[in-house]
Amino acid sequence: MKRICIWFVALPLLLAGCEQSNETSEKGDEEQFVNDLLQKMTLDEKVGQLCQYTSQWEMTGPTPDAANAQKLEEKLREGSVGSMLNVVGAEATKNAQKIVVENSRLGIPLIFGYDVIHGQKTMFPIPMGEACSWDLELAKLSSSIAAKEAAANGLHWTFAPMMDVGRDARWGRVMEGAGEDAYLGSRFAEARVHGFQGDDLSSENTIAACAKHFAAYAFSESGRDYNVVEIGGESLHNVVLPPFKAAVNAGVATFMNSFNTIDGMPATASVYLQRDLLKGDWGFKGFVVSDWNSVGEMIAHGAAADLKECAQKAITAGCDMDMEGYAYVDYLTQLVENGTVDVQLIDEAVSRILSVKYQLGLFEDPYKYCDVEREKNNIYTSEHREASRKVARESMVLLKNDDAILPIKSSVKSIAVIGPLADDKDSPLGNWRARAEANSAVSLLEGVRAAVPEGVEINYAKGCELATGGRTFSTYLQVNEDDKSGFAKAVKAAKKSELVLLAIGEDAYMSGEGRSQTDITLQGVQKELFEAVVKANKNVVVVLMNGRPLVMPEVVEKATAILEAWHGGSEAGHAIADVLFGKYNPSGKLVMSFPRNVGQIPIYYNYKNTGRPEGKYDEDNLWSNYTDAPNLPQYPFGYGLSYTSFTYAGLKLDKQETGVNGEINLSVKLTNTGQVKGKEIVQLYIRDEVATYARPVIELKGFDKVELEPGESKTIEFKLTDKELGYYFPDGKYVVEPGSFKVFVGGNPHELLQSNFILN
Ligand code: NOJ
Repeated sequence: MKRICIWFVALPLLLAGCEQSNETSEKGDEEQFVNDLLQKMTLDEKVGQLCQYTSQWEMTGPTPDAANAQKLEEKLREGSVGSMLNVVGAEATKNAQKIVVENSRLGIPLIFGYDVIHGQKTMFPIPMGEACSWDLELAKLSSSIAAKEAAANGLHWTFAPMMDVGRDARWGRVMEGAGEDAYLGSRFAEARVHGFQGDDLSSENTIAACAKHFAAYAFSESGRDYNVVEIGGESLHNVVLPPFKAAVNAGVATFMNSFNTIDGMPATASVYLQRDLLKGDWGFKGFVVSDWNSVGEMIAHGAAADLKECAQKAITAGCDMDMEGYAYVDYLTQLVENGTVDVQLIDEAVSRILSVKYQLGLFEDPYKYCDVEREKNNIYTSEHREASRKVARESMVLLKNDDAILPIKSSVKSIAVIGPLADDKDSPLGNWRARAEANSAVSLLEGVRAAVPEGVEINYAKGCELATGGRTFSTYLQVNEDDKSGFAKAVKAAKKSELVLLAIGEDAYMSGEGRSQTDITLQGVQKELFEAVVKANKNVVVVLMNGRPLVMPEVVEKATAILEAWHGGSEAGHAIADVLFGKYNPSGKLVMSFPRNVGQIPIYYNYKNTGRPEGKYDEDNLWSNYTDAPNLPQYPFGYGLSYTSFTYAGLKLDKQETGVNGEINLSVKLTNTGQVKGKEIVQLYIRDEVATYARPVIELKGFDKVELEPGESKTIEFKLTDKELGYYFPDGKYVVEPGSFKVFVGGNPHELLQSNFILN
């Protein structure tokens, strides 16, 4: 990054901080600058830097103190605001920035944050869908485009990526993560951080990323959002924390803590998580923002008596910035003045925030992201939409394809396109859609119409309604989901067509924050619509659009094919058509298991064996099972079909024994045995057979996405080292225990080649 030279006039006091020797290192420059600035700040100005407020025109949570919010402009003028969220647009951010820079004593620029979760205006598939591509370059690409658009919209900072490992499909926010596995989640965490931040935070096309929610938010009891979390140390360290640690190693600029308590301790007040682990052991140098009023919510948790105690606990624990909590602004100054909080804690938090602002280049030019021209040219470009289509294609998972009904044959001359989501131009945009225009996605119907050769008849019928179309709960309830009056037209369309595409699932707002469900089957009358359609025409291809794994036994049994398309973003309809008509051979694999029924939840592939595992006892014995359903899910993590077939052969290890600190090299031959080109996601799993703390039956430790022509073979290689072979004890210590290991390679966790080795 270039040496800082502050040019804006309202900073006479800061200018002194610019006069540094050219020889000082970049990091040295930054430290020096931040220290000098800190020396000039009053306690109130310091506390101001720790406060973040929402704009009043777009809010993503309840505002706890409306009266205070009215005084926002006053606060901006006096320099007692460090950051704002939900101010978007080159013009809007410039105006807010101007108030601060031109009026406050030190003119310290604001940092503008926003939820840029899967795109800014060009929407990409929801993050869980994107993770089904198992393609880290694509995740990097989509995050970098989201960053470019967000930066052109005046933003500096996204509250993403979410890296909560989720095992409970009832929790609506699974759509925002990378699924149920910590290893895969870690790789996606790194890719997305690199995508948002690039190599240089000060570049005008990159923004600061935020690793959230720290920690264990996805483990909310019974899948109810914001609920308490009870989790042991072994799961915390091996399942929840690895993606966060990976994000730190990838250089993530910020962290967000979480709403939940963990074994009674609010994450926001956790000294262990934020100070000892994150800023201590992991050496994180950025800053931690609270979640929306997670500081104040400690009162409701019963973990603080009042807002003053909330402020004291949060700052002590290492929560640097208070998002919309009004605890820091109201109480930190007096807590320091009466000796309850050491001013060093404040100084440390302020320094961390100023450092990130410095890295973004805001002291060099506070308006550098507020460029109206760039905003006009860099957003929603055809190049971005083309990238979105590519990512969407690779995110889809083919769950069933009987009689090779897909890809649709050129002999098919009539297609019915049916379902509440078939011509929905809004739901594909997904839940966290930032600045996407409502109804701007390509619908399935539009995609199919654009893809079919001339002369093919398209018979469209909506069939029924699906909940929302609106953003709030009041609009959520406005449609009649029980109405079956559209069934007759749907049945007629199905009858007169050779093949049916039935688009069902969830609309955009059935998943996401605050959208937990106890029933994750198809909502409304979609099941009945499916039954009616399948009765009229047995060639039914179900196209699922949804934000979480669904339970749909009737569809699994009777549909001829099922394509999981998620909420696929701006170009969803074109991307789905690419897959349906064989322009793209589907290659996605699930990153979250689909349960057979809600009673199986939490369900995940890397479970640990019980003392009475499946297969060990016959039916006359009591063993760990259900009497009304199998133990295994409907579709597991790692599962997904292709239009071609792959075979695995000759799994080889370069040695049968190795020592701790050694390595094992593996190879396997993969062949495309089908008729068309395709991509396969090769998965490597291990099992540590005997350990101090029982290890999962299999755990993912590597993967590779490989494209092969028909008949082509390739040798795929993996390496296993201490990094993959060890695990965390419940106290957080990483250990590599000697003993025997199994290794497995294949294209889905239920069909794997295996071998074994000894670690001495
Ligand atoms: C609450 C959500 O939990 C968090 O993920 C989001 O970034 C903030 N609200 C800000 O909108």
